[in-house]
Amino acid sequence: MLWWVTLVVSAAWRRQVAREDAASAALEAAYPEAELGLRVRLGREAQGLAPGAVVRSTDPRLELTYGEFSIDGVRRCLEAAGLEEKEVRFADIGSGTGRIAAFAALRNPRWECRGYEISETLHAEALRRSAEIPNVRFERRDVLLDPPDLSDVDVVFAYATAFPAPEWSPDLGAPLLDNRWTRMLQVALRDNSRKCRVMITDRALDPAAGFVLDEVLDVPNRETAGSLVFIHTRED
Ligand SMILES: C[S@@+](CC[C@H](N)C(=O)[O-])C[C@H]1O[C@@H](n2cnc3c(N)ncnc32)[C@H](O)[C@@H]1O
Repeated sequence: MLWWVTLVVSAAWRRQVAREDAASAALEAAYPEAELGLRVRLGREAQGLAPGAVVRSTDPRLELTYGEFSIDGVRRCLEAAGLEEKEVRFADIGSGTGRIAAFAALRNPRWECRGYEISETLHAEALRRSAEIPNVRFERRDVLLDPPDLSDVDVVFAYATAFPAPEWSPDLGAPLLDNRWTRMLQVALRDNSRKCRVMITDRALDPAAGFVLDEVLDVPNRETAGSLVFIHTRED
């Protein structure tokens, strides 16, 4: 009996490793590491910043900072959610050129992935780069002005490290994501009756807004020398 269980588990593990390798190769084809500088430059143009420009910490354009979250970091978050074999709907809020939503789609062909991005330029780049990936789609949308309908979503991810977090929660030992973003998530998720995981980088969500902090993951992020990802569910 034990040998049979070992065989099944190791076959599943080999399948997962093969799938990860295939997803990484396909992601590198669509988003070559060598073109990271191009994508970052596009992000700075979209943000309205000249190369080398110095900005004050209160400049509202900081909210539009483009960066690419670590793939290993996202993989760790998705593994923690334990949704591997299921049909899952995944949304990246502030999807930039679409790399994270594309990765989630390539890694899980049964998942339906989507991204929402305010910048027309970055959105167009996401469409161009992900054109060959059938299970990902992108919308150009200012989510703060026009919150998306996330009623059918199982995982929400936001690389929110540059989003404002004016308050510190002594209870959570973490900065709280600004009210406008929290309110947007409340509206977007109000009809969601699934056990949706809301994953926010380097910011926690206010428990008073109905978000329960379940887990904090310390994951690699080369852009910030490491990130904490706050994983929430919503109060029933
Ligand atoms: C740090 S980037 C993350 C890109 C992508 N998620 C990744 O990790 O590769 C954050 C993105 O959020 C977008 N953003 C900022 N405010 C937004 C808003 N109100 N609506 C939609 N997108 C927004 C920015 O333009 C930027 O591309």
